[in-house]
Amino acid sequence: MRYFVTGGTGFIGAYLVRDLLQAGHEVTIFELAPQQEFLDEIVGAAGEASIVRGDVTDLAALLHAMKGAGAERVVHLASLLTDSSEENPLRAVRVNLEGTLHAFEAALAVGAQKVVWASSIAAFGRGPDELGGTVRNDDYHAPVNLYGASKAFLERCTATYRRDRGLDVVGLRFTIVYGYGKSFTVQRGSAVTHLEELIDKPALGQPGLVTNGDDVQDFSYVEDCARAIVLAAEAADTPSLALTVTGDDVRVGDVADMVRELLPDARIEVRSDAPMRIRAGYDREGTEREIGFRPAWTLREGLASTIGKLRARHGLPPI
Ligand SMILES: NC(=O)c1ccc[n+]([C@@H]2O[C@H](COP(=O)([O-])OP(=O)(O)OC[C@H]3O[C@@H](n4cnc5c(N)ncnc54)[C@H](O)[C@@H]3O)[C@@H](O)[C@H]2O)c1
Repeated sequence: MRYFVTGGTGFIGAYLVRDLLQAGHEVTIFELAPQQEFLDEIVGAAGEASIVRGDVTDLAALLHAMKGAGAERVVHLASLLTDSSEENPLRAVRVNLEGTLHAFEAALAVGAQKVVWASSIAAFGRGPDELGGTVRNDDYHAPVNLYGASKAFLERCTATYRRDRGLDVVGLRFTIVYGYGKSFTVQRGSAVTHLEELIDKPALGQPGLVTNGDDVQDFSYVEDCARAIVLAAEAADTPSLALTVTGDDVRVGDVADMVRELLPDARIEVRSDAPMRIRAGYDREGTEREIGFRPAWTLREGLASTIGKLRARHGLPPI
């Protein structure tokens, strides 16, 4: 199959591209700011993807690239993240809203069979405590920031493009995605900086500080997310507009304990004076039924892999 991946040298994208190449697919990446070194590091010997430098806000360029690639399946990951959306609302409208609709329009124009795009649990906004227990896959959206609002709007657009335009499109709502490479997204506006404090800094022998120790969050390993995208792209029928891709529900303070088990010298200060709005408790049944996804990595395994890769990159001995 010929895959076309926007944002394909980003954190999740690089792992996806590796898996696609490993499975023998042809991959074209459409990227505003290609991170060639990160991509090469993750992809390794799995193969080589073509990279087209471009901006999803430019419909003509996107369409031209998709046509040139002969795209059969489109994965749309390009997006502003939480903080960058708040900092630049106009750009968030252009990249997140128009950029995603450009991906839908271009996919229709080239006759792609399936589009998978990245939504987020930020579309729900509130946690199970406010939504009355488990957050159902089709629960109502009450986003609390522009990023979440953009993803919620795009889930409505998914319904319209299916119903009125006949596009086979589905969103995947990611939770808190962790793994090697996550820290690169901080400069791009990821609000999830406690992962760097919890994992990256201790892995490199630096002190970490988390202030939301009592939050229970859904931690999803990046390689599981990449696999979920492939499953969604291959699924014959995905009736839901979007599916939540879950990991392990764990208290942030307990994640710090797991890191300390892996790295006995780790220095992580855990406080609970600044809880976040990001929660756990997302229903996984629909995702399992529709695309057969269940996380394959436990949090402990994912942490060990992330810490191992970080230490290897910095020339530190393995754990
Ligand atoms: N990482 C998470 O925890 C998480 C959670 C929920 C949802 N998501 C969603 O998953 C997707 C991928 O996230 P990620 O963590 O890999 O982020 P990322 O920033 O690492 O990757 C996004 C990529 O898109 C590219 N990009 C940004 N604007 C672009 C534009 N205008 N045109 C072309 N390319 C552009 C960036 O250069 C980057 O490489 C995003 O849509 C994000 O909203 C991520």
